[in-house]
Order: sequence, then C-alpha cells, then structure tokens
Amino acid sequence: MHFSFNDPSVSIAIVGAGGFIGSHLVDALIERTTWRIFAVDLDFDRLQHRLHHSRVDFLCGDLKNEEVALRIADCPIVVNLAAICVPSRYMLETKEVIESNYNHPVSLALACEKSGSWLIHFSTSEVYGRTSSEPCLLQEDTSPMTLGPIGASRWSYACAKQLAERYIASLENLSWTVLRPFNFIGPRMDFMPGIDGEGIPRVLANFCAALLRGEPLLLVDGGHSRRSFTSIHDAIHFIFAVLAHPDKSNREAFNIGNPDNELSIEALATLMRSTYASLRGVSLEGISSVQNVDAKTYYGAGYEDSLRRIPSIEKSQRLLDYTPKEPLEITLKETLSWFIDHYGSVL
Ligand code: NAD
Ligand code: UGA
Repeated sequence: MHFSFNDPSVSIAIVGAGGFIGSHLVDALIERTTWRIFAVDLDFDRLQHRLHHSRVDFLCGDLKNEEVALRIADCPIVVNLAAICVPSRYMLETKEVIESNYNHPVSLALACEKSGSWLIHFSTSEVYGRTSSEPCLLQEDTSPMTLGPIGASRWSYACAKQLAERYIASLENLSWTVLRPFNFIGPRMDFMPGIDGEGIPRVLANFCAALLRGEPLLLVDGGHSRRSFTSIHDAIHFIFAVLAHPDKSNREAFNIGNPDNELSIEALATLMRSTYASLRGVSLEGISSVQNVDAKTYYGAGYEDSLRRIPSIEKSQRLLDYTPKEPLEITLKETLSWFIDHYGSVL
C-alpha cells in the first residue's frame, strides 16, 4: 500500500473534519498534497476559509447514519476524528459518549473492511486509564489499563475508546492504524463558553478563557495532576509520517505525544499567566489569579482523574522516524495569541 502526496487520483475522507485536529489536517492536506479531500462533520465553523476550495468536497453528515459511513468508506484512506471528547460531557452524556466513541467507529470500521479502505482511527491517551502519579512511560503494546468503577462514569469515554480499538484490531481483513493523542493544543481548540460552546472545555482552552475574561484559573484538586501537551503542528507532522509509511503503520497503534512537555496543571497555570501577561504587556498582578476547586464540585458525580500521562515515543521513532519538536512555551504563546485575536473583540 503506497500513496504519493503528488498523486491527484488519491482521495482521503476526514470524518470530524470541522474539529480542532480535523481543520488543521484539512489545511495541511490542501497545502502538502494534490489529493481530493472528503470532509465530513456536523458543522464546519472552523473551516469557513476552505468552503470553496476546488479539491475539498463537504458533507454535513452524522457518522451514526449507515449511509454516511458507507459513503465515507468509498475513499481509499479514511481518517476518523469524530467523537464527543470533552471530559465534562463524559458524566452528563454517558450513553452518547459511548455511542460516539464505540458504536460509530465500529460501524465505520466494518464499512472500511468491506470496501478495502485504510482506516486511521483516533483513539486517546485515556486508554491507559486511571494512571497513578508514578513517572511511568505509557507504551502502546505493553502498558495495562486500569479503570474506575462503573459509577465513575468519567471512564465511559476511555472504555469506549479502548473497546473500539479492540474491535478494530479483531477485523483480520481491515488495514488499520490507531493513533492515541496526548493532549494536543493549538489555535482553534475547543471553544469559549457562552460564545461558541457550552460547558467546560479542556484545560488549555479553559485557562485561555479565564485569562481573557479576568476570571480565576481553576485548579481541580489543587492542579497536581500532570499532562504531556503536544503541539498541533507536531501532531500534523506525525499524521503525515503515518500517511507516508502505510506499510509500517498497518495494524499498529501509536502514541502521539511529547514527553518533554510534561508538567502539572498548577505549573501550566503559572506558565500561562506569565505568557499572557507578557503578550498583554502588563504585570502578573494585573491578570487572573488561580483558585483551587474540588473535582466533584466542578465536574459533578462520576468524575475521576488520570494523575499522570507520559507517552513513550520509542515506537514512533523506531517505525516512523518521528520525534516531536515544539517546546510547550512556543505553543502556549501561539495558542494564547490566537484566543486573544479570535475572541478579544467579543468579550
Ligand atoms: P473536536 O471536538 O474539536 O472535533 C471532533 C469533531 O467530530 C467535531 O467537529 C464534531 O462535530 C465531530 N463529530 C462528533 N460526532 C460526530 C458525528 N456523529 N458525525 C460527524 N461528526 C461528528 O475534537 P478534536 O480535539 O479534534 O479530537 C478529534 C479526535 O481525536 C477525537 O476522536 C478525540 O477523541 C481524539 N483525541 C483528541 C485529543 C486532543 O488533544 N485534541 C486527545 C486525544 C484524543
Ligand atoms: C482529555 C480528554 O479526555 C480528551 O480530549 C482526550 O482524549 C484526552 O485529554 C487526551 O489527551 O488523550 P484530560 O487531559 O483529562 O482528557 O482533559 P482536560 O479537561 O484537559 O483536563 C486535564 C487536567 O486538567 C485534568 O486533571 C483536569 O482535572 C484539570 N483541569 C481541567 C483543571 O485543573 N482545571 C480546568 O479548568 C480544567
């Protein structure tokens, strides 16, 4: 299996194309390939600048519909990004989260197996489950998964994602690659509550919103949990490394992360406050402070947390010669600048 980036006869379907990762991927495919792009999503707010591009076909469609899945599987390459993937929804919309992250991917995988398409499926670093604060590297093919009890409905997403991986891997005639992102950050991520979304966005977007609004940055349970944040630009480079090596990627799962960008949420808040103050040309005293909040109060019953997530990137380096490059400080400055430009006038 090989696809030249300069072959205009190649078509690729991006499901969830209107999302954070999807919109950056569509941009990169337009700029770096001559392929036709079939963009599928429920809406395309983040792709308004591409709506009339000659090589992009748009379908406002719901992956839960069988006919949409069959149409997507007509493309030889299918990237599935469609999901409900914001933690605050895992407890409130558990049934929908499971359908979105298990039922719909299974339906698409069966369609791809039948059509012979290569399925590149986006899973999550949450498939490593309720990790402890121990500094262990999470390895694709050996690390176990520990989940909380059924009542801790936060794990509905992680469980659905892992079972979807298991189902995909069980299809012997399917060409598949599973990607496990570790906290991608960058422009266009999530939403600004009350402006273009409701609920609690993921932490980076939530802290950007708080800084722009002059509200406190909320540290859940003291902000002691740790994450490894990954630039969306490194993430796109990784996806292209996979597209360039279909044979090495076939029937493999890969972490997409940057272990060098690991820090506590508390340290993230400190870094974001100083970056924001610098961008605005004001002192630290003039911007939002931080405030501790209890997890159950903030997220509601059923919330539990992964205390630490450090991706092993040994497999990506070995098979795909891929190493992430962008330091967290660079990505934070770019992302905060984007939030200021994008929302500054409406706040
Ligand atoms: P996002 O919410 O920005 O994008 C997801 C897109 O999927 C949205 O545009 C949404 O409208 C679309 N979608 C949802 N359900 C759909 C349906 N039934 N039919 C059609 N479209 C549908 O999220 P993202 O950050 O771009 O994440 C994309 C994928 O990567 C998801 O599968 C997510 O679980 C996974 N992931 C992302 C991260 C990250 O850090 N961004 C981390 C781990 C995993
Ligand atoms: C997220 C989501 O589950 C998915 O987008 C994705 O699958 C996963 O990241 C991943 O990267 O694989 P999580 O990292 O827990 O999971 O999501 P965030 O909402 O960004 O929370 C990160 C940490 O910050 C958590 O410990 C959370 O409690 C904390 N947090 C969040 C705060 O301290 N303050 C906030 O305002 C928001």
